[in-house]
Amino acid sequence: MKDPRTFHVKSFGCQMNVYDGARMAELLEAEGMTAAGDGASADLVVLNTCHIREKAAEKVYSDIGRLRRDDGTRPMIAVAGCVAQAEAAEIPRRAPSVDIVVGPQAYHRLPAMIGAAARGGRAIDTDMPAETKFGALPARRRQGPTAFLTVQEGCDKFCTYCVVPYTRGAEISRPWAAIVDEAKALIDAGAKEITLLGQNVNAWEGEDETGRVQGLDGLIRALDRLPGLARIRYTTSHPNDMTDGLIAAHGDVETLMPYLHLPVQSGSDRVLKAMNRSHSAASYLAILDRVRAVRPDIAISGDFIVGFPGETEVEFTATLEIVSAVNYAHAYSFKYSPRPGTPAAGMDGQVDAAVMDERLQRLQALLTEQQMAFNRATVGRRTTVLLERNGKKPGQKIGKSPWLQSVHVEGDAAIGDLVTVDIASAGPNSVGGILVSPERKAA
Ligand code: 5AD
Ligand code: SF4
Repeated sequence: MKDPRTFHVKSFGCQMNVYDGARMAELLEAEGMTAAGDGASADLVVLNTCHIREKAAEKVYSDIGRLRRDDGTRPMIAVAGCVAQAEAAEIPRRAPSVDIVVGPQAYHRLPAMIGAAARGGRAIDTDMPAETKFGALPARRRQGPTAFLTVQEGCDKFCTYCVVPYTRGAEISRPWAAIVDEAKALIDAGAKEITLLGQNVNAWEGEDETGRVQGLDGLIRALDRLPGLARIRYTTSHPNDMTDGLIAAHGDVETLMPYLHLPVQSGSDRVLKAMNRSHSAASYLAILDRVRAVRPDIAISGDFIVGFPGETEVEFTATLEIVSAVNYAHAYSFKYSPRPGTPAAGMDGQVDAAVMDERLQRLQALLTEQQMAFNRATVGRRTTVLLERNGKKPGQKIGKSPWLQSVHVEGDAAIGDLVTVDIASAGPNSVGGILVSPERKAA
């Protein structure tokens, strides 16, 4: 196989994969390769995979099949991400055309692996080396108005349904200075909004430049002081790591956007215990009360699993009840998927697929209603919108409100502008806005 000159990275799953995908692309460009628009013509295709549920994990195999071209050729194929980490040995057996298998902590070694594959070998690397990949990656560049920045990786919580502690390893916080430097590079490259990422981002901990131990709130306050950064977000969080300091930051850090993704998974204390969540429905609600006390307009988002082993109808109803108590602005909900190697996969009382379908439908109907109600309640508000991309209609731009709603506007403003908008109409998945004042800032 010849040395690839063009590449395409396709990321699935969570935002951490989107971040890793962007960093892989930067790495390959620094090696002199060029990004191809899609996988159809690229010499190298990187599938950056997700292992969280069975459906996501199985997708990689059908995607690999589709990479074969009409003339019988195929690109060099690299499987990256969490499926690579979890199924390194199985992948070449099930999909012999895969040339490279690279885990989420080893992708800084991709150039050498590509070299080995071009010489006809197969390269597999799922190490979780002590030295981090971050130091070996090229500096951030070429940025849209919004950017992700991974500050924390891994998880020590071991929820009984979840593969993350196995695929992403133990909780690790990136050092303060590395994060601040990367944020500065992103801002220099055009980012006005940075979303701090981690599997348990609010467990981030590190020493600031004076040696003082700081939590995520300290880091957010430091980034808030960086000139040119208009908005800060973070995701995803565990209720047990919602510290007093972080809650307080929601009240007084102006650039910290009023949006909190705080998964609860279930409203039943029996199920939460079986999930090893180490919080109760009541303690979760108490956290939200405190956050809302300092930031009343905050948009709350969550994750839910229906049909965890042993979940009864009454226990499922408790989930509907907590949803009713919270009023979510946005949410993700899933049918429980047994994952190999996790404790829940071997538990008694696996729930029937049809029951899960029916519960998911009822939950999603309620969540959709709440999302619509949230959007409707913002109609009439004057707010800022960071324009991210062009819409389908001529002159239309799409951006995000502070509450992470998609906002459609028309008028004289450019991508990257932070504009003032009156929200005028609401749909289930977006709102319509009227441009009040384009606030052109040099990018
Ligand atoms: N089955 C279904 N959903 C899951 N999640 C994690 N593991 C599973 C699983 N085995 C969901 C949780 C988590 C989100 C990222 O994915 O809700 O918060
Ligand atoms: Fe998975 Fe639980 Fe860790 Fe989230 S906190 S990554 S759900 S084990």
